[in-house]
Amino acid sequence: MVDHMKIKLNGTEIELPVIEGTENEKAIDISKLRAETGHITLDNGFGNTGSCKSKITFLDGEKGILRYRGYPIEQLADNSSFLEVSYLLNHGELPNKVELEKFEKTVKEPTLPVGICDLLDDFPKTAHPMGVAASAIVALSAFVPRENLDITKIDKDEVLGQLMESISIIAARFFRHRQGKKIIGTDPNLSYVENLYNMMFDEIPSEKVKKALEVLLILHADHEQNCSASAVRVIGSAQTNPYACISGGISALWGALHGGANQAVMEMLQDIQDNGGDYRKALDRAKDKEDPFRLMGFGHRVYKNFDPRAKIIKKACDTVLDQLGVSDPLLDVAKGLEKVALEDPYFVDRKLYPNVDFYSGIIYRALGIPTDMFTVMFAIGRLPGWFAQWRELAEFKGSKIARPRQVYMGENERDYIPMEKR
Ligand code: ACO
Repeated sequence: MVDHMKIKLNGTEIELPVIEGTENEKAIDISKLRAETGHITLDNGFGNTGSCKSKITFLDGEKGILRYRGYPIEQLADNSSFLEVSYLLNHGELPNKVELEKFEKTVKEPTLPVGICDLLDDFPKTAHPMGVAASAIVALSAFVPRENLDITKIDKDEVLGQLMESISIIAARFFRHRQGKKIIGTDPNLSYVENLYNMMFDEIPSEKVKKALEVLLILHADHEQNCSASAVRVIGSAQTNPYACISGGISALWGALHGGANQAVMEMLQDIQDNGGDYRKALDRAKDKEDPFRLMGFGHRVYKNFDPRAKIIKKACDTVLDQLGVSDPLLDVAKGLEKVALEDPYFVDRKLYPNVDFYSGIIYRALGIPTDMFTVMFAIGRLPGWFAQWRELAEFKGSKIARPRQVYMGENERDYIPMEKR
């Protein structure tokens, strides 16, 4: 069995240890590389770089496997609730009845400070909800006792509960504020998901809608070291408080190549539909290297097979639309596009499959959630995962500040040129 790797650089041979994970993934530990050889590694987009050891989420992109704390995502989506999964991600085990009730109480208790409510009411109604969410979450740090900003003293479950409750209130409150509608508060008799829906629509969701929302939030709850989780960890590595870390995660998620893809998918499908529904044209554009257009909701850095979340969502999509009696022409466009893409050599050769964002928007749309709120729904789901990633980092004794190096390719030293000589 390989347990080290020998490399020769500048005539010096060194041995680098090989670390093996519990699912047999192997990593070369290069922590001594620079000290012993003077070399660093260069890895654009970190596709070959492991940034940490983690016990939270396992995914195998080749086989299309995703597990939280060892539990397959399919089983969690079928049987669990979003709160139970949030507890699992953060504590490593499924909660018993008492633990779940206690956790639920921690999530339900916090109220949004009046100052944050005022802030939300002052945002322009045209503001993007992701900018609002990121700002309001970091602004929360101004309203909590200073101990909550000291990562050695904070009660992590209390802060997790406050953040989970706050993001749902922030999203729902801004959603209603911009429509000029009466604000609906939380109801202690409702579950987390029921409250979220009720605060948005002033209506308790049916069992079917509730289940669809639970599944969507569970599927989004964690995805190991993706762009936003890595952002959370990088910020947290400076011992920054969790409010600022989570706000950073929301900002990273906003981008169209990450969580913002759910909004971009819907806009792309709408555009195809508005222009006669010819999805083959979109496919041709996506393949054209001169055109920056990409097929949104397709491809993934890690999945080179079906994203298991996309499979669950596609099925849920059919069920939800059917149960709600909604017929959405964009679902037909999406299915047509998926079919031709999966048969096209460009997509086959590059192993580009639909990702989690391809179908999620259609469910959100069927639930009456507008397109620019999709990524906030994703952020509500992802928050406990970000928190678990932050917590694991904060509790890791050997944690170091994240500080990558670079290969400098700029000018060599030169003398300052006075203005009149430029
Ligand atoms: N449409 C067309 N071509 C694509 C797409 C796409 N959606 N995705 C990748 N490709 C092509 C690239 O052009 C490249 O082709 P080449 O080898 O001829 O140069 C090849 O496939 C590899 O693509 P990379 O960009 O190197 O792959 P990377 O792992 O860096 O990117 C990403 C992954 C960002 C997800 C990419 O597939 C993409 O932009 N997808 C669309 C946006 C999207 O759906 N994002 C959501 C991801 S899921 C999430 O974050 C929640």
